[in-house]
Amino acid sequence: MNRSVLLCALTLGLMSVNPVNAAVIFAGKEKAMAVCSHCHGIVTPSADAPFPSLAGRDFNYLKSALAQYRDKTRKSDLMNAIAGSLTDNDISNIAAYYAGLKTK
Ligand code: HEC
Repeated sequence: MNRSVLLCALTLGLMSVNPVNAAVIFAGKEKAMAVCSHCHGIVTPSADAPFPSLAGRDFNYLKSALAQYRDKTRKSDLMNAIAGSLTDNDISNIAAYYAGLKTK
């Protein structure tokens, strides 16, 4: 096996371990910092804030919660207003970003 085939196999191996690519996480981070962090914080919301923490939560849970807020099948005046303008891509990116954060 020559060097580039080996490198390629290694890269594919790494990608299958971590299917969420860096670009997605970066896009999610931008949005989270600009919008969500005001209420939810990044790792933890401020101690006395009534906002659920999002870091390290399940990716699919975050995605479906955001889609439900956007479609108004889950009611919250604040979250319906915020999620209303998110695209499917935004939702995936933000969910990937928060799900990938370590809480400790
Ligand atoms: C103005 C404050 C505010 C902002 C900004 C905000 N949220 Fe929320 N969020 C809330 C509140 C309040 C709740 C609890 C609503 C409820 O009872 O369902 C909530 C709930 C959630 C939940 C459900 C958590 C759970 O435990 O079920 C998710 C997911 C969420 N927000 C994601 C986001 C994302 C992603 C953003 C940025 C795009 C964002 N929020 C921005 C106030 C906010």
